[in-house]
Amino acid sequence: MKYHTMKENRRRWLRAIWPLIAVLSHQSECAAKGGTGGSVIEHHPSSYWEQPFSQPYFDNSTKRETTTTVGQSAYLYCRVRNLGDRAVSWIRKRDLHILTVGILTYTNDQRFQAMHSDGSDEWTLKITSPQVRDSGTYECQVSTEPKISQAYKLSVVVSKAKIVGNAELYIKSGSDINLTCIVLQTPEPPSFIYWYRGDHVINYSQRGGISVVTEKQTRTSRLLISRALPADSGNYTCAPSTAESASVLVHVLNGEHPAAMQHGNSSNSGAATRTLALLLLFLHAGSFAR
Ligand SMILES: *[C@@H]1O[C@H](CO)[C@@H](O)[C@H](O)[C@H]1NC(C)=O
Ligand SMILES: *[C@@H]1O[C@H](CO)[C@@H](O)[C@H](O)[C@H]1NC(C)=O
Ligand SMILES: *[C@@H]1O[C@H](CO)[C@@H](O)[C@H](O)[C@H]1NC(C)=O
Ligand SMILES: *[C@@H]1O[C@H](CO)[C@@H](O)[C@H](O)[C@H]1NC(C)=O
Ligand SMILES: *[C@@H]1O[C@H](CO)[C@@H](O)[C@H](O)[C@H]1NC(C)=O
Repeated sequence: MKYHTMKENRRRWLRAIWPLIAVLSHQSECAAKGGTGGSVIEHHPSSYWEQPFSQPYFDNSTKRETTTTVGQSAYLYCRVRNLGDRAVSWIRKRDLHILTVGILTYTNDQRFQAMHSDGSDEWTLKITSPQVRDSGTYECQVSTEPKISQAYKLSVVVSKAKIVGNAELYIKSGSDINLTCIVLQTPEPPSFIYWYRGDHVINYSQRGGISVVTEKQTRTSRLLISRALPADSGNYTCAPSTAESASVLVHVLNGEHPAAMQHGNSSNSGAATRTLALLLLFLHAGSFAR
């Protein structure tokens, strides 16, 4: 009976000073590892570890679903409070592969790295150059007994560019080539979008009357070539930094009549449009011959 009371008193006393210890150990750089605050914690009877306030727990405010594009580094943020001397590991759920323990990478795949700065609660998994096959669930695990873990969902998507309109475009000589490229399925706007004609980046200084307006927020880029000539015909490609590119074949026709099909969104198939364009061109050439 007497023994129990003593134990009870000691327990109460420890509970009373606990917030103070917690504050002290939080202020000290090496929280529960070396400092005096830490060693006090270390020598508690094990039952004290079971107190909710002394156990590590997840700060659930971090984002648990992340979407990235192929090749764009992905970051999964795991925040653990009261970690003490426990280790934080990252596990790939698919095959239960241990990717990192503490700040060490445990897999041969060096694209996985743990990022952590001293004194912070954050243990971030960085995946460099992610691929679609890296999509799935990752677990941030703390080596308590029993273990606690938190799941993170990563989606790695293929982002694609799209040029508005048909895959082939017929334009009358002297009118404008007006191409609009939209980057689809991209969580982040691409940092740049290049336009190519054939294999070459479109050179603004080689020919006047070219303008490119790229809007990051709407993820669009518009190429405008004014007063196009047959020499401007070719395969135009929109190539965003983080997406698959898109192309359109532009035919600048040396005639007046095909103007009607410019920017057309007729129900004609591309082939029918082309035939019609060639026919009109033929008729036009014929009128010259007479
Ligand atoms: C945080 O998430 C874990 C795992 O989903 C859960 O067990 C725990 O209760 C959550 N904690 C809070 C404070 O919501
Ligand atoms: C280019 O086309 C877009 C729509 O496709 C249009 O909004 C824009 O005004 C056009 N620009 C010129 C200069 O014709
Ligand atoms: C663009 O064309 C100009 C004139 O032909 C040339 O001097 C310049 O090097 C070209 N720039 C690029 C990036 O090809
Ligand atoms: C246009 O260029 C792109 C990129 O170089 C290529 O993938 C595509 O096959 C080309 N299209 C045609 C019709 O030549
Ligand atoms: C162009 O045609 C396609 C298919 O016929 C249709 O889905 C699309 O809405 C049309 N776009 C415009 C701008 O009329």
